[in-house]
Amino acid sequence: METIPSILEERLKAAVEDPGPTPLSITSASDSRFGDYQSNAAMLLAKLRKSNPRLVAQQILDRLQVADICSSVEIAGAGFLNFRLREDWLQERVSQMKADPRLGVPSPLRPLGMVIDFSSPNVAKPMHVGHIRSTILGDSLARIAAFIGHNVVRDNHIGDWGTQFGMLLLGWKTILDRSALEQDPLLEMERIYKNVSARCRDDIAVLEKARHELVLLQTGDPENLLLWKEMIRLSQSQFDTIYGRLGVRFDVTLGESFYNERLKPVVEELKASRIARESDGAICVFSDGSHSQEEDVFLIKDKDGWRDNPAIVLKSDGAANYMTTDLATLQYRIETWHPDEIVYVTDGRQQLHFRQMFSIFRRWKPEAAATVRLSHVWFGSILGDDGRPFKTRSGETVRLADLLDEAEERSFAQVSERNPALPEAERREIARIIGIGAVKYADLLPHRQGDYMFSWERMLSFQGNTAPYLQNAYVRIRSIFRKLAEAGEAGEAWTPGAPLRLENGAEIALGKRLLEFGEVLPQVLQDHRPNTLANYLYELANTFHAFYEACPVLKSEGDQRASRLELCDVSARMLKTGLGLLGIEVPEKM
Ligand code: ARG
Repeated sequence: METIPSILEERLKAAVEDPGPTPLSITSASDSRFGDYQSNAAMLLAKLRKSNPRLVAQQILDRLQVADICSSVEIAGAGFLNFRLREDWLQERVSQMKADPRLGVPSPLRPLGMVIDFSSPNVAKPMHVGHIRSTILGDSLARIAAFIGHNVVRDNHIGDWGTQFGMLLLGWKTILDRSALEQDPLLEMERIYKNVSARCRDDIAVLEKARHELVLLQTGDPENLLLWKEMIRLSQSQFDTIYGRLGVRFDVTLGESFYNERLKPVVEELKASRIARESDGAICVFSDGSHSQEEDVFLIKDKDGWRDNPAIVLKSDGAANYMTTDLATLQYRIETWHPDEIVYVTDGRQQLHFRQMFSIFRRWKPEAAATVRLSHVWFGSILGDDGRPFKTRSGETVRLADLLDEAEERSFAQVSERNPALPEAERREIARIIGIGAVKYADLLPHRQGDYMFSWERMLSFQGNTAPYLQNAYVRIRSIFRKLAEAGEAGEAWTPGAPLRLENGAEIALGKRLLEFGEVLPQVLQDHRPNTLANYLYELANTFHAFYEACPVLKSEGDQRASRLELCDVSARMLKTGLGLLGIEVPEKM
């Protein structure tokens, strides 16, 4: 289905003589007292033509043909056009949307190929609360893109290579506690890593040994390769447990090590094309002077003025690094999938890395770079209630597995209090859906570039903009249909598909809200912000409650009752679908 703004935009276009490059855009009305949609096209055109905006608005109005859609179009203020929709047309649209498995979401003009690089934890370290944002945001973006109709490759770029393995190997060979490893592999790997890395700091001899282990690994020593593979295997199985709990899946998991063979050629090409050069023994990329100083990602300003801020692609010890790996990865992804967009979901501290990486790539492969949109989708931190980075009471980073356990436990206590009579297995399942949903929603709701404060009380509350509130809205609607079935009203039972009749103001408001879904979803992908969808679902639940207060459903009769049941049903479907696109399940009872 086409969205209402795009239908009105077409009509507007037909009514404007010679619009030129002026965007004739329609937006939702800022004040519903004056209409449903508005446009500032006349004002933009008037500016261009150096004419009177209200006059231009009148000229458009004279030619505009929207009688089938709008009950009125008015000129307001400095030259806004305000459109009010006809109620019969609206009713027809809502009926179409209701019958549409895509719930009114328009198909893309051309499906895009998208690679989404998300989660990407590092091997031999437990996944902690910092990885949750990338995992949840990336998963939601992938679900939304796929629903819209794009072709998505979900790529988990795990950190399975790098200097940490020198220390891990040394620790494994000298201080490994086998029984601890069996109990909790990641905890034990973390312990040996921390132990060795602390000793490396004080003792150059230990550092030398760790370096030696790393060189052995890099030069293909069979024993070290075997141990390294074992560490990856152990880590991956723990990651998989978390992904299973979160309902997150990947199409490919190509770790950094996958790109090893491609690193040296990248550096050679960059040197040969004079993009990179030697500096203090390292190979670096400097500014090429093509940007203003403010916009140049290879310059930095300090108290003495602008100075170089090069990107290193080969360290002075001859090792490639994160930058080299990401360049090789980007090249591989373009060769392999020819994507229209590559999305990287990481925290905000990596902004400079990605800006430099994208810039180097554009200089290195301008043709390939011109075919792909490169998006670094970054996010802020999770804070504790003291406003500092979220930690456990003893000051450790919070492990993701523990966090999910606690969410389910807290939610289980709530569910048990509300429904003491339900069998325990059922209460556990409801608690899982609510607990995991609450954590995810709390993470997706704030604007991703800000920090947010983690609060169990807030995220598990049934009041306010939370997952339990939205899940409960769904459950309440479903309970209407359960009541209906239980009552077993012969002849009066609900048969889906009855015609809609939007008569009451609250019914019309709900119909309009339902139609907005098709406008909201594509927006999420434009700026990669699932919070737009979260906020929409909250508005939808509120609009539904207002309808339910104003319009009796089970107590109404005949066609009106059938129509209202239809509105209930499609609202429940939309809540379930929308939450599903955020990676959140819904229970049938709670
Ligand atoms: N492993 C990295 C980390 O934990 C994130 C990798 C993100 N993706 C990438 N292509 N650089 O910080």
